[in-house]
Amino acid sequence: MEKPSTVIVIFGATGDLAKRKLYPSIYNLYKKGQLSKKFAVVGVARRAWTNEIIRENVSASIKSEVEGDISDLDEFSNHFYYLPFDVTSKSSYHDLDNLINSLEDEYDIQGNRIFYMAMAPEFFGTIALNLKTEGVTNTKGWTRLVIEKPFGHNYDSAKKLNDEIREAFTEDEIYRIDHYLGKEMVQNIEVIRFANAIFEPLWNNRYISNVQITSSETLGVEDRGGYYENSGALRDMVQNHMLQMVSLLAMDPPIRLTTDEIRSEKIKVLRALRTIKGDKVEKYFVRGQYGPGKINNNEVPGYRSEDKVNPDSNTETFVAGKLMIDNHRWAGVPFYIRTGKRMKEKSTKIVIQFKELPMNLYYKNKETLHSNLLIIHIQPDEGISLTLNGKKLGPTGGTVPVRLDYRNDGIDGFNTPEAYERLLYDCMLGDATNFAHWDELDLSWNFIDAISEVWEKKSKKEPFLYPSGTMGPNESEDLLQENGHKWWPIT
Ligand code: BG6
Repeated sequence: MEKPSTVIVIFGATGDLAKRKLYPSIYNLYKKGQLSKKFAVVGVARRAWTNEIIRENVSASIKSEVEGDISDLDEFSNHFYYLPFDVTSKSSYHDLDNLINSLEDEYDIQGNRIFYMAMAPEFFGTIALNLKTEGVTNTKGWTRLVIEKPFGHNYDSAKKLNDEIREAFTEDEIYRIDHYLGKEMVQNIEVIRFANAIFEPLWNNRYISNVQITSSETLGVEDRGGYYENSGALRDMVQNHMLQMVSLLAMDPPIRLTTDEIRSEKIKVLRALRTIKGDKVEKYFVRGQYGPGKINNNEVPGYRSEDKVNPDSNTETFVAGKLMIDNHRWAGVPFYIRTGKRMKEKSTKIVIQFKELPMNLYYKNKETLHSNLLIIHIQPDEGISLTLNGKKLGPTGGTVPVRLDYRNDGIDGFNTPEAYERLLYDCMLGDATNFAHWDELDLSWNFIDAISEVWEKKSKKEPFLYPSGTMGPNESEDLLQENGHKWWPIT
């Protein structure tokens, strides 16, 4: 196994993401022996922390997030260093370069540097440019930039940010994080499709009736009201995670499993995605907002009563949509998506519903056959189910749905550091397959902008309210009923 050796610089080292995801992920890689002992992490942020303080914080985060033996924790956290940083001051970058140079000598690292942006996005461009102009990217090894979401707020801001970072890094050096691409079962979509003879021949509009992707959460906006008010579920979940899953489900088989070939097939899907704009938006999309309700028997407030949320807010916390991919393979097959906060369950599932048989030989007493379904369970359980029809027990014939279930045992629970661990490791190895290319962002933002433009008009209808603890507004059912479809239960 290759053991990458690198300095990782984390911008935003005092923040929540670093604490909850990055430190535990780096630790897990270290513990599993995937990371060489020749590594150092430099945390930078505004606060006046010291090496001791960051080490204490790293230890605390690992104690709370990682289970099992952590006896090597001190040895691990001694690889962490801290630099108080002002992103607009040149001297901060010089100090950073000096510190990295000395760590490269100390740990015998050959000039490989990862710059991880885990802070307020408005600084991403400034930091990238300064890293270049102040010589921090000038090394004898490789340099890579990892960028967290949100990558822009719309197409224009995403393009501006991209232009800024491209001044300093080439496309090959940029790793745009979409943590869904690090999830085990999202990565499995490609394998299920391209390593099984029984699915790919049916994977088209002749045999598939519709595809349903649900990503529901029970949490509300928590302490992110400020961010979420400007984002909403469309930007927060659909532009990135949901469209990534659509691309993986709809892409043609790549000619080989390389980063470029896979990305190029995914990009073709987004190019074929029908733009929904103007009056069409209301027909293809439903937006909702959670009201008060009950989650696990506990009363929870509505979105408009959350901290840092405008009491008259029209921000959507739920989106359901019907996506059409206008190409030969998918013409006429709706890809339904829905995602929201404060829903009934925390769950991400994909249901592929196959078309009905041309006739039902078992039609007796109005008995209908159950649709054949392939369900990909992304989280919290990981696995695949296939719903078929079998014979009802007994002499009288008739049919009964039979479900074949496979579950992964190594379940880590949802939103664990696991996805980050894989993505960080991929980045260290220089494998960008599970990161978003600029062309994907370009197309997905253009798709999203056409919808948000309509929703943000003052004259438009408010989002439909749904009680917390439900599967969203009833109008999301109507979206499917029009085509004679229904949301399949997500359990
Ligand atoms: C993030 C969103 O990208 O994904 C959050 O910003 C959301 O609002 C989260 O809660 C969901 O991720 P997961 O892995 O818990 O499904």
